[in-house]
Amino acid sequence: MSKLNRLFRNHKFSHKDSIIVATQPESVYAESFRKIPINIKYSRVDDEPRVIQITSSLSGEHKSTSAANIAAVYRELGHKVILVDCDLRKPSIHRITGLVNTDGLTDYLVGNTDYANLIKQTRFEIDVINAGNPVPFPHVALRSEKFKNLIAKLRESYEYVIVDSPPLLLVTDSLIIGEICDTAVFVINQRTTKKNAAKEAIRLLRESNIPIAGIVLSNTAKRIRRVSKYYSYKYKYTSKK
Ligand SMILES: Nc1ncnc2c1ncn2[C@@H]1O[C@H](COP(=O)(O)OP(=O)(O)OP(=O)(O)O)[C@@H](O)[C@H]1O
Ligand SMILES: [Mg+2]
Repeated sequence: MSKLNRLFRNHKFSHKDSIIVATQPESVYAESFRKIPINIKYSRVDDEPRVIQITSSLSGEHKSTSAANIAAVYRELGHKVILVDCDLRKPSIHRITGLVNTDGLTDYLVGNTDYANLIKQTRFEIDVINAGNPVPFPHVALRSEKFKNLIAKLRESYEYVIVDSPPLLLVTDSLIIGEICDTAVFVINQRTTKKNAAKEAIRLLRESNIPIAGIVLSNTAKRIRRVSKYYSYKYKYTSKK
């Protein structure tokens, strides 16, 4: 399976400051996200995936952080993008984007809010759909026709729909979500994800015929970069001028 990119570990993260692509656009971490949309595109050149699910095997593997930053890269490229929090059990996109978790997906699906209230604008210029208030059976809400129709509507209104989702090995929700997305991005936390867990989660995706665009390897150790000959040459060359 192709690697979409590696994301280094060395950042102090807090949920409210984790869209590094927007807050520290020149950092190495932000830069590593910028290759992901290109690699997703080339995972299926003839039919570019536009509704993209971000998932992983277990909790805390950097799915939500990756989803938000990938959305920010599409935005940076000038696209109209929406980030949808489909982790109805442990939502976090509202915190990452500085919103309050009201009028969200669950509220829409049970008829407590309408489409106009559902779409939230953020300071990152990414539209967001919050997860909403907890419901007793999230997987039932996600299986509804109303959810399918919502994703179909978002597909018409936005160029890219980035869907954050729960861990594959804990609940079935991600497989249900995957069925209506174009592709899945699988996040592996290099420090915590066990090989067998990743293998099993990927097996589940394949068994459900969910296409996988590739893997994002998060929390990787930072290599010390040697200054390449090319760069030192270029520096000397320009400094003579
Ligand atoms: N590259 C990174 N380096 C260090 N910490 C990170 C990095 N990316 C995310 N984090 C932090 O790790 C924690 C878990 O990240 P995140 O919420 O994105 O994971 P998740 O896979 O969505 O978890 P869950 O399954 O619980 O929803 C968060 O506190 C986040 O700020
Ligand atoms: Mg999450």
